[in-house]
Amino acid sequence: MNIQTHENTLQDIIGHAKEYGFVFPSSEIYDGLQAVYDYGQNGVELKNNLKNAWWKAMTQLNDNIVGIDSSIFMHPTTWEASGHVDGFNDPMIDNKDSKKRYRADQLLEAKAEEYTLSGDKEKGDALLQEMGRLLGAEELEAVRELIISEGIKCPVSGTSNWTEVRQFNLMFSTQVGSVAEDSSTIYLRPETAQGIFVNFLNVQKTGRMKIPFGISQIGKAFRNEIVARQFIFRMREFEQMEMQFFVRPGTQAEWYEKWRDTRLKFHKAIGLPADKLNFHVHEKLAHYADAAVDIEYQFPFGFREIEGIHSRTDFDLRRHQEFSKKKMQYFDPEVNPETGKPFGNYVPYVVETSVGADRLFLAAFSQAFTKETITDGDNVKERTYLKFHPALAPIKAAVLPLVKKDGLAEIAQEIADSLKSSFRTVYDDSAAIGKRYTRQDLIGTPFCIAVDFETKEDNCVTIRHRDTTEQERVPISELKERISKAVAVERILEEI
Ligand code: GAP
Repeated sequence: MNIQTHENTLQDIIGHAKEYGFVFPSSEIYDGLQAVYDYGQNGVELKNNLKNAWWKAMTQLNDNIVGIDSSIFMHPTTWEASGHVDGFNDPMIDNKDSKKRYRADQLLEAKAEEYTLSGDKEKGDALLQEMGRLLGAEELEAVRELIISEGIKCPVSGTSNWTEVRQFNLMFSTQVGSVAEDSSTIYLRPETAQGIFVNFLNVQKTGRMKIPFGISQIGKAFRNEIVARQFIFRMREFEQMEMQFFVRPGTQAEWYEKWRDTRLKFHKAIGLPADKLNFHVHEKLAHYADAAVDIEYQFPFGFREIEGIHSRTDFDLRRHQEFSKKKMQYFDPEVNPETGKPFGNYVPYVVETSVGADRLFLAAFSQAFTKETITDGDNVKERTYLKFHPALAPIKAAVLPLVKKDGLAEIAQEIADSLKSSFRTVYDDSAAIGKRYTRQDLIGTPFCIAVDFETKEDNCVTIRHRDTTEQERVPISELKERISKAVAVERILEEI
């Protein structure tokens, strides 16, 4: 028997995600809304399983990390202090002929990648460096000239008829207050991190937290992404899973390395293979960072960021201290061996881990999506299935009576009822058994439990394993324990 696995395209993945209830375009009956998506009945289970694994990996595995759930709306000064009002911009350029808008940095990055792929990595790196320098110095006219001198053309019109480069703020704003005179402008948060910073003292004091400690949070974030492409990779409304780790100044480099490595282990533990994961160290650092690295996954459209690890210095807490006039300090009673005195009061430094739940979903889904051609002599079969880590699979077990009659349906229903308080189980008695196996393969159910005539005699059922399609006979009394163990989130946590 020969099994040939096919390369996946993003189009295959989008099609499968829609057809099997994972991801739908938002408000599709009105033709959708660009860069906004809804999760369907299977998608929400997968996403919840990912969030649960992350939450436990952060809080349950670390005695010194606790979670919060802060609001999407925050006092508007938050975003002045954080630098988002002035600095959360993308440099945009329009093509006058096609009227299409692009991110200037992405046009140049694509050109640099072209050089690298054609063997001239040095030229590619030099271009990136020059771009970083010009953007850092806000020399937008020079960025435009660079785009033109590099011969970059609009993929739609094919011309270099570019407008000037303009900075475009990514925050969505809205009004609070019922009457116009009383209302004030507030923003939909563009990151969940600031909700953690403004609660730093609340958590530290009420939780009696001692440095180093972390605060984690899962929540929605909003960005008015102009170039919204690649499905749920870049959305306008998305979910972040962030953790801010507060450390003693001077120790940030070692924590940065620790968190970079721990987070990589998490991605491997959920089933992303090592050769499809990459570190991309930032050359051009954000205004608040002294080191930054992206963890990238190889999507069908190339290696792209799924998570950022940022050493954010004391920038955020210091700025909130300045804008709020409230002290954002921690008293460290530990004795400094160099001075023989306590470290005393300081504004902590922060190492942040920030992963998008939707991007992680897309990575897990892309990795799981498997299309095979199985050749066995003259017999050629196509098989598509989702090879999720069992702890991530939306449905863990499907109970399938071979036929409805002769009491098999009742036995199968009873088994399903006995399992469903332990893990997500479905019962299905429609269509031929082979068709029902395929149905479960297509949504990634790791275990199918077939109830046949022998079950009535021996109290055993057949478990069919999704990835190998192998079958084994198992006593009904062992099902709960065996499957519970196989699908438990511990299986991920133990690998971290
Ligand atoms: N607090 C730091 C921060 O927000 P970021 O690199 O801008 O850093 C962190 O975002 C993560 O959030 C990214 O690695 C990505 O997974 C996710 N993310 C950012 N923008 C996104 C978007 N428009 N759509 C989906 N996910 C996004």
